[in-house]
Amino acid sequence: MNFSLSAIVLTAILATGFLSVSHPKSSPASCDHGRKLHVTPDSSLKIHFRNDFLIGTALNVSEIEEKEPEASRLIAAQFNAITPENIMKCEVIQPGWNEYHFDLADKFVAYGKKHDMFIVGHTLIWHSQLSPFVKNIQSGDSLLLFMTNHINTVAGRYAGKVNSWDVVNEALNEDGTLRNSIFLEKLGPDYIRKAFELAAKAAPGAELYYNDYNIEQPKKRAGVIALVKKLKASGTRIDGIGIQGHWSTKGPSLEDIENSILEYSALGLKVSFTELDLTCLPNPWDLQGAEVSQNFKNSPFMNPYPHGLPDSVQLKLANCYEALFKLFIKHKVKIERITFWGVSDSQSWLNNWPIYGRTNYPLLFDRNYKPKPAFEKVMALKD
Ligand code: G3I
Repeated sequence: MNFSLSAIVLTAILATGFLSVSHPKSSPASCDHGRKLHVTPDSSLKIHFRNDFLIGTALNVSEIEEKEPEASRLIAAQFNAITPENIMKCEVIQPGWNEYHFDLADKFVAYGKKHDMFIVGHTLIWHSQLSPFVKNIQSGDSLLLFMTNHINTVAGRYAGKVNSWDVVNEALNEDGTLRNSIFLEKLGPDYIRKAFELAAKAAPGAELYYNDYNIEQPKKRAGVIALVKKLKASGTRIDGIGIQGHWSTKGPSLEDIENSILEYSALGLKVSFTELDLTCLPNPWDLQGAEVSQNFKNSPFMNPYPHGLPDSVQLKLANCYEALFKLFIKHKVKIERITFWGVSDSQSWLNNWPIYGRTNYPLLFDRNYKPKPAFEKVMALKD
């Protein structure tokens, strides 16, 4: 997404005074100086795009347990697909060989059924957030036993309830080669095929996705395509590719994203944007991707907007989301789902990564669960 263009657009718009301001309930950190938004109460993303693609969000524990009434109202009104942000990951759901914690996952699935949502399971096999007992496994046989038990037990429990699984998450390096992990070390490259094979048996009715970040980038995209072709050649079911979409107001290019949609769907696969958010804050080195093990020092430079987003950046964010959704609409027949990685700015992992304790604004709803200009721009599309 070549945003130098939006800089030009931004200057032009500011010159014409596009944005008029009045917003009675503004609070410094969440609202931007009282912007008038043309959003009616029933402005709903899921309704607006009901003939195009699903609109999803990632839920944290308090949202799953409906502890925040405003969040619950917003989620039910805006979204028709849900992904668990953390509670179905290995370290949470299987802390021991024969120890499973299904309480939160059961609540998550029940929440989805109650609100008639498309339910995504995230994620069965991932090198990160593994339980310590898995990290200490020494033999390939033991690791294969873990994978078999984990997938059969977790995906099996929600067979017929979870609609789509992120079967394998983030298994590639930026150059498209296989990421080193305990799975690759102990089981070799075939672990990916094995994971999809196990998931297909445990959850015959669920879609099976490969999910990763930066797979809109040409080199990494080539790695995904090679992986898919290998799975298909072995007769192993894979139904979709999840492009996470942890992006910024600086990129990636729309061209790379469009080419990814075209090339992945040309493999006969569904394409979803599974963890969409656009950071508005400087990155320590404009680092690549979402590898959570990185961390850096906070400073006023790295946390420039603790009390609200300047109009210029707010509009840049709005233009970026508008440009993205124009592309999604153009390719709606190839796109199954657009999931935002969080409900509102207050929940975003990007407030604590890659630097802890920043104030970020990467989503469509602010810290008061109010729609932002980006929401308005996206909703204005298609009218
Ligand atoms: O639950 C513990 C809590 O008990 C403890 O007090 C607290 C303090 O350390 O940590 C809590 O666990 C945190 C967990 O989120 C729940 O909030 C972990 O430290 C923290 O690392 C974890 O971060 C999650 C991250 O994945 C971990 O890998 C983020 O919320 C989540 O948004 C993020 O999501 C990933 C996707 O799964 C895969 N793609 C990239 C994406 C962003 O990294």
